[in-house]
Amino acid sequence: MKTPYRKRRGIWIDLLLISTIALLGSAIVYLTVLNDEPIFQTEEQSAKDTPSNISEEKSSFPGVRIVTDISNDEQMPFAIQYPLTEHETFNNTVLSYINEAKDYYISMMRLQQNVHDLTGELNISLQTFAHEQYYSFVLTNKTILSNTEHETTVTTFLIDNKTGETFNMQTLLNHNEASLKSFANHVQSEMAKNPEFADALNKDKLVAATQPNWEAFERFALKEDTLVVYFNEGEIAPVEVGLPNVEISLSSINPLLASNFQIAMEAEDTTAPTQNTDPSHKRIALTFDDGPHPEVTKQILALLQKYEAKATFFMLGSRVQYYPSLVQEVRVAGHEIGNHTWTHPVLTKMSAAAIKKEYETTEQAIKAAIGQPSAFFRPPYGAINDSVRALIPRRSVNWTIDTLDWKHHDPAKLLPMIQKSLHNNAIVLMHDIHQSTADGLEPVLQYLQSEGYEFVTVSEVLPYY
Ligand code: NI
Repeated sequence: MKTPYRKRRGIWIDLLLISTIALLGSAIVYLTVLNDEPIFQTEEQSAKDTPSNISEEKSSFPGVRIVTDISNDEQMPFAIQYPLTEHETFNNTVLSYINEAKDYYISMMRLQQNVHDLTGELNISLQTFAHEQYYSFVLTNKTILSNTEHETTVTTFLIDNKTGETFNMQTLLNHNEASLKSFANHVQSEMAKNPEFADALNKDKLVAATQPNWEAFERFALKEDTLVVYFNEGEIAPVEVGLPNVEISLSSINPLLASNFQIAMEAEDTTAPTQNTDPSHKRIALTFDDGPHPEVTKQILALLQKYEAKATFFMLGSRVQYYPSLVQEVRVAGHEIGNHTWTHPVLTKMSAAAIKKEYETTEQAIKAAIGQPSAFFRPPYGAINDSVRALIPRRSVNWTIDTLDWKHHDPAKLLPMIQKSLHNNAIVLMHDIHQSTADGLEPVLQYLQSEGYEFVTVSEVLPYY
């Protein structure tokens, strides 16, 4: 009884639904045809009023494509260049920077257009540098909103193109705060010396901009042999000066760098036998300070050669200048050369400027003699503190065994002094300006060799400290 009644009502509802759907459908079709506008706006459609011409091309850097995005819009033209790599996460970081810059410019221009009829410009240009597999992309963003409102900024994007990982100053300096301090100091003094900006530089602002904070050194590029640090417009000099930057030679900061960023110091690798990195292997680093000396250093060189020994010579600039060919002879024989200042002063009692002069003049003399920088620094008398360390862009290395050869002048005492505190990877202090040291050296070499020690440079024992 109840079934037919229900059935009749069901038919009514069905009919109503069908006709409603039909009516809506035809209305949508009608509206679409008539308006020529889609009902749901797509993204391309919303960007329609800023038409641009995007092209992509290969670059001379493997794995890098360059994208150019240009709009010739009369009121808001732009020309944008940016890189794309084979690494998506990195590309997204670059793209979000680009989109943000573009959106800001376009929205600001639209806002202004309602008030005045102004012409702006957005120009983002790209420079690419490579240091092995490390790529640095430097984007210079010039945003002009009006005659009075314009800004130029630099943003750098850094990637290890092998792994796709980004790198920054922390990676470069191995997260070492002390290295950051030396680096910041070095950047500050190099910038102050930069003739291109010298007159315009605001010293106080420079000091503020080069405090040892990681954030202060976010913008840099790693080139083949140098590192470029960028500052923003107005940051350390008047806006008119443009974008100050300073180029730091990698060899001058080599000891501060994480090992994968260090540059190879030539000459050594070709002749030196492969290093024994077994920690139980016996090795000792003999060091000779205060030379070179035209006779004593030569005698020591001959003895070292006889025992196939390598050593490290911490030289005084004031002596290097007189015997450059002897310095070269030492280096060519495979020994390391360290910077021991020019006049052998107590650095901890000197002004920053005087300390730097001691180091730099000596460094120049060493470079002039051997065509490469010193490997290490040793402060006279071993006297060093944090402020001295911050001024010297080299690792400071003292000693673990003092032979007191400068005091006793007794060839017979050289070996017992070493035996007394002999240990593996020891760094032994001697002086190649005393005849007594040259005279007592052969028994030292004989004994240590018989004990199974390898005579190595300071670089080779430092990993064990
Ligand atoms: Ni000395």
